[in-house]
Amino acid sequence: MCGIFGYVGSKQAAPILVSGLQKLEYRGYDSAGMYIAGAGSVKAVGKVAALVAELETKQSAGTAGIAHTRWATHGEPSVSNSHPHSDTAEKIWLVHNGIIENYQALKNELLEAGVEFVSQTDTEVLAQLVASLYKGDLKSALQEALARVHGTYGIAVMATDNPGQIVVARMGSPIVVGVGDDTEMFVASDPSALLEYTNQFIYLEDSEMAVIEADTYTVTSIAGEARAKSPELVLHDVSAVQKNGYDHFMLKEINEAAEVIRNSTRGRIDARAGTVKLGGLEDVAETLATIKRLTIVGCGSAYYAGQMGRLMIEEYAGLPVEIELGSEFRYRRNLGDASSAVLAVTQSGETADTLASIVAAKNLGQLTLGIVNSVGSTIARTTDAGVYNHAGPEIAVASTKAFISQLTVFVLLTVWLGRQREMGGEEASEILTALAGLPDVIEMMLADTAAIEAVARKYANSRDMMFIGRQLHAPIAYEGSLKLKEVSYLHAEAYAGGELKHGSIAMLGPDFPVFAIAPEDAVYAKMVSNIEEVRARKAPVILLTTEGALGADGLADDVLYMPKVHSILQPIIATIPLQLFAYYVGVARGLDVDQPRNLAKSVTVE
Ligand code: M6R
Repeated sequence: MCGIFGYVGSKQAAPILVSGLQKLEYRGYDSAGMYIAGAGSVKAVGKVAALVAELETKQSAGTAGIAHTRWATHGEPSVSNSHPHSDTAEKIWLVHNGIIENYQALKNELLEAGVEFVSQTDTEVLAQLVASLYKGDLKSALQEALARVHGTYGIAVMATDNPGQIVVARMGSPIVVGVGDDTEMFVASDPSALLEYTNQFIYLEDSEMAVIEADTYTVTSIAGEARAKSPELVLHDVSAVQKNGYDHFMLKEINEAAEVIRNSTRGRIDARAGTVKLGGLEDVAETLATIKRLTIVGCGSAYYAGQMGRLMIEEYAGLPVEIELGSEFRYRRNLGDASSAVLAVTQSGETADTLASIVAAKNLGQLTLGIVNSVGSTIARTTDAGVYNHAGPEIAVASTKAFISQLTVFVLLTVWLGRQREMGGEEASEILTALAGLPDVIEMMLADTAAIEAVARKYANSRDMMFIGRQLHAPIAYEGSLKLKEVSYLHAEAYAGGELKHGSIAMLGPDFPVFAIAPEDAVYAKMVSNIEEVRARKAPVILLTTEGALGADGLADDVLYMPKVHSILQPIIATIPLQLFAYYVGVARGLDVDQPRNLAKSVTVE
């Protein structure tokens, strides 16, 4: 949440800061601002585009600066609450991602000393505190200030009287330093924002800080101990962060599903032998062969992917699995021990609640694992072992391709754990052969999405919608509902089909459409009964089923067909029409599907 970008070098900073903020906008977009040494600050409420318009009215020459795009925590989106924040005399400028938990106590002290505040933010308190300690050495002032702070932060700070230096620090919110050529250095919350300029990154760990000048950087702990860090090389295709002709990143990323599955499985499956190779788990394979229980932790879509993982692993690998929300698990008594492991599922690798759950499990001595998309992210580096998704950067706030890759990795993990336990080679071979063919099936599906678009347009003006599914398709119903809520703001709910009659069927009627996910599988007949119960209440039904499903044609108001594949893979196929449905409803309602209101891509605060 919140994006930080900084530049110090020999070029004009303003266009570089704007381009960085545009790439970080997914992290928060209710206001934006920048400070350029020698030119001062510019701020605007709304998206980066509003800041660009504001910049046109100001003098912005200068070759160093810090910038921020905000997701509000303390105080509404307004110019005075936008970052960068400064002290009253404008000696210090600071951008911040995170929450200063003891800001009120610090503010009271500063108020007593006569300091006047212009914003409602916790960040301004930090800027004022640093300024009150500043005697010409920014690093020392920041160290002293941070020693008094409780909370989380990724920060970048500049002093007006030292325009060629940026000091950054990290505690719980990511900060990466980008090493350019000999004459420029960058800083950002996410390396993907820097790919246009460099692929050499220094990742700060918690409790570390760095002093950056155009041709040097020094990393130390916040307490001052030296840290020797060399840049890590990160290879990413820059086109992954561009729309490449699509109207929206969300549509582009849905259309990447086939490629994402290829990337997530590349080099990992031997279909003939019925084996999966997961290099990141090799060191802990012996331990994993003996564990008695796995706890999966995630938030949002990653949580639903975890629900799917639980069903797959229990059904096919015979290992008991629990699934937990990161925001709840972190505050619960964890009864795990050395015979259990905790697995985090996360696209960003920075989600605060998921990270806290992993840290708590580690502190208990449990084995921690990750299914993580962002290479080098905090959760990837905190867990003992894990599997990267290799889905590439996901830019749209609503997760689509990352969710597909999470399901794919769960199929791999299921076979991997299954082969350690009760799964035979023949069954594994069958699953892996089907998985290898899945991208071609998806490409065929995505070649014609007109029917989904037409159904989405038909229901775009609904007020409510319910999603139902059973077994492996229950988590897909939850995810379909979340996707629709996120990008269309429609009221949507989701239930396992058999649960409706226990209460929520009371809501249904002619104005409450139901989207039923019912492939012709072991529970198809049960879903047909649930659909009949819905129709008896006169609720319109959209049915998503498999080609040739018995009796499907007359069963619903609208029927969408998908290809039938191996039952463990069917949920991956079923996800795509639901993502497209949400996308087309959002577009038909004229909304910004890539950056829905009130959301941020990377949820780095509690
Ligand atoms: O980066 P993570 O996978 O840990 O993020 C978890 C959730 O915040 C995320 O899935 C969120 O629910 C998305 N907006 C869903 O589209």
